[in-house]
Amino acid sequence: MADKIKVDLGARSYEIRIGAGVLGQIGTLCRDLDLGPVALVVSDEHVNPLYGPPVEAALHEAGFEVGRVAVPAGEASKSGKMLFRLYDEALDRGLDRRGFVVALGGGVVGDLAGFFAASFLRGIRYVQIPTSLLAMVDSSVGGKTGINLPRGKNLVGAFHQPVLVLADVAALRTLPAREYTAGLAEVVKYGIIRDAGFFEKLEQNAAALRAGEPALLESVIAHGCRIKAEVVRLDERERSLRAILNFGHTLGHAVEQVTGYGRYLHGEAISLGMAFAARLSARLTGFPPAEADRMIALLRALGLPVERPDLDWSAVRQAMGVDKKTRDRALRFVLAERIGAVRVGCEVPEELLREVWNQL
Ligand code: GLY
Repeated sequence: MADKIKVDLGARSYEIRIGAGVLGQIGTLCRDLDLGPVALVVSDEHVNPLYGPPVEAALHEAGFEVGRVAVPAGEASKSGKMLFRLYDEALDRGLDRRGFVVALGGGVVGDLAGFFAASFLRGIRYVQIPTSLLAMVDSSVGGKTGINLPRGKNLVGAFHQPVLVLADVAALRTLPAREYTAGLAEVVKYGIIRDAGFFEKLEQNAAALRAGEPALLESVIAHGCRIKAEVVRLDERERSLRAILNFGHTLGHAVEQVTGYGRYLHGEAISLGMAFAARLSARLTGFPPAEADRMIALLRALGLPVERPDLDWSAVRQAMGVDKKTRDRALRFVLAERIGAVRVGCEVPEELLREVWNQL
């Protein structure tokens, strides 16, 4: 039985379907949405051999003409070079404004293919089929698309909502263990920013979650998507509330950048960033230190990194300075007030940043 969650955005509303086997519904669902006649499936070289053929077959069966492109797996593909390659592929295959894109893969593919869809012919429709846990719970929902620049992550992009998200939890069986664990960081984030009861459920089920127990996982993904759908409904363009989703991301993005997007997976860097934000919160917002310990303990129990990486602080600090969440030059953080509630736009004294980094 698939969970169905609506992302309620008026004319841009869409459904998230979560369940084992939902990938096979792609053809009929796209026909119901009146998409077509040409579909361009964008995937990566790891995911394409596994799920490209069944997606293509289901689309063919429903009467679509299908092209398939696979980019190299990894963050380096979120680049201008890869974007221009997709424009060429699309033109070669006759994709026009009635056509659509299927983003089949993890966060990198979703962001790249989503931005391609947002910009090609001034915007065509696209479907997200996330195959990583991180993409299922976070990046495939909410319409943030984009690519990286050498000076920072996601510095070019657009808000462009998909018309459908299909999260096939069966695809997680082929996800490398490290990537699965990294995705759990964004799951924990939902508990911290919005739902103390959910956080407790994660604490109580940490071992089963770490082991990927299917029914638990499906309910956890669905709950995370429900929280994200609600936040996006209330603040699609990140004027205020949506920034809570960036909890842990200021330091996390800097760590990813300083290490060349090669050493840490996104979720791992976000885990470090959340541990850092928890300690900062305990110094600035009245967040009880014992709650910071609790947060860090859950991340650790799930197998996520929480200790200070062997990196030069000044490089990390400099990388935080160009994070796009910087406003009016002062660095602002999302900090916790309690588990289940965070505050955005918190200024942090410079010396405290270094002190807390050293204490991690
Ligand atoms: N991943 C953060 C957001 O979608 O706003």
